[in-house]
Amino acid sequence: MNSTVPTNGRVLSGMRPTGQLHLGHYHGVLKNWLRLQHEYDCFFFVADWHALTTHYEDSRDIVAHTWDMVIDWLAAGVNPGAAKLFIQSRVPEHAELHLLLSMITPLGWLERVPTYKDQQEQLKERDLATYGFLGYPLLQSADILIYRATGVPVGEDQVAHVELTREVARRFNHLYGREPGFEEKAEQAIRKMGKKNARLYNELRRKYQEKGDHEALAVARALLEDQQNLSLGDRERLFGYLEGSGRIILPEPQALLTPASKMPGLDGQKMSKSYGNTISLREEPDSVAQKLRTMPTDPARVRRSDPGDPDKCPVWQLHQVYSDEARQAWVREGCTSAGIGCLDCKQPIIEAVQAELKPIRERAREYVDNPALVRTIIEEGCEEARDVARETLQEVRAVMGLSYK
Ligand code: TRP
Ligand code: SF4
Repeated sequence: MNSTVPTNGRVLSGMRPTGQLHLGHYHGVLKNWLRLQHEYDCFFFVADWHALTTHYEDSRDIVAHTWDMVIDWLAAGVNPGAAKLFIQSRVPEHAELHLLLSMITPLGWLERVPTYKDQQEQLKERDLATYGFLGYPLLQSADILIYRATGVPVGEDQVAHVELTREVARRFNHLYGREPGFEEKAEQAIRKMGKKNARLYNELRRKYQEKGDHEALAVARALLEDQQNLSLGDRERLFGYLEGSGRIILPEPQALLTPASKMPGLDGQKMSKSYGNTISLREEPDSVAQKLRTMPTDPARVRRSDPGDPDKCPVWQLHQVYSDEARQAWVREGCTSAGIGCLDCKQPIIEAVQAELKPIRERAREYVDNPALVRTIIEEGCEEARDVARETLQEVRAVMGLSYK
């Protein structure tokens, strides 16, 4: 194992292939990924099958959108040396796990996922009464469980999907984690840790089971993580044995809630391609300046001599993203007293956005000019992802009684 891989656990996140990304994605998702990639063993992937669940009628651009998006990940600083970057459909193991999980997932669990009814209402022009659309949260569960991810960074709207994933994992472990002779196998595995660790494990297990000591549980888990001479199977047995259940084959992931992005669009609404209010990560400097200069301000501030109210102005929202307290005070004072004009007020924002985008734009150009490099990065990411996915699947097949050896 690579010694630079952090031991805090594994993080998985996916993004639908939407093409070139904008500042909303950068402040809302990518900056979070940049932080996570140094703290966790990260798997980031393009959810191209997920795009099909809603856009099966217009799927021609998925490939082009995928490459554009991957280039923007890289340009923003996602580091293929630290995180595995790959494409969902290139790791077909996701589909097999999805199928297998579908056998044990009650229909009601999927019908109750809030996005099911919400999205059908929001996307009325599409026919979403499909099998694939109903099942897409379970596909997401397969995405997560196949890597045995411990954390999934999601926005508020996706928390229900992680919750479903936990329920599916629990059901799976309950159904298939009860192997014959489990206790004996667990006791044997304990002995493999050596006398000292075995005693410690037993003591911590007793503290948890008899006194409900959660700290002891956490320490015992960390102890198991550190054991080099346990097989994957034994380690899972001992995780399960700790809690008194059977083996934990698919661990339950935690949702890592990402705070909603404060990045507004050029009109003050949420920045989104469908509102036409974006600044893309590869936007040319002239266009950046032009878009910000013509951005609407407090509508009551018609003349330069009229005082304004920052709370009614989308530019103020940008100052909350880009300006420190001193500059925010300068804006409030200057705006409400008509001491500064709106162009004066926008100037530091223009400079901040230009400074932020310059290195991203330059890196993006390098990747655009070298498509073979991008292909190689993804190819390697897919291979690494498949190695992990295959291992999980082998075990899933075995416990489900589908191991033909
Ligand atoms: N469903 C997510 C979205 O629409 C994308 C996604 C697919 C995902 N699989 C995932 C996110 C697994 C996190 C983990 O945005
Ligand atoms: Fe908006 Fe700044 Fe103009 Fe005030 S001075 S209305 S905050 S752009």
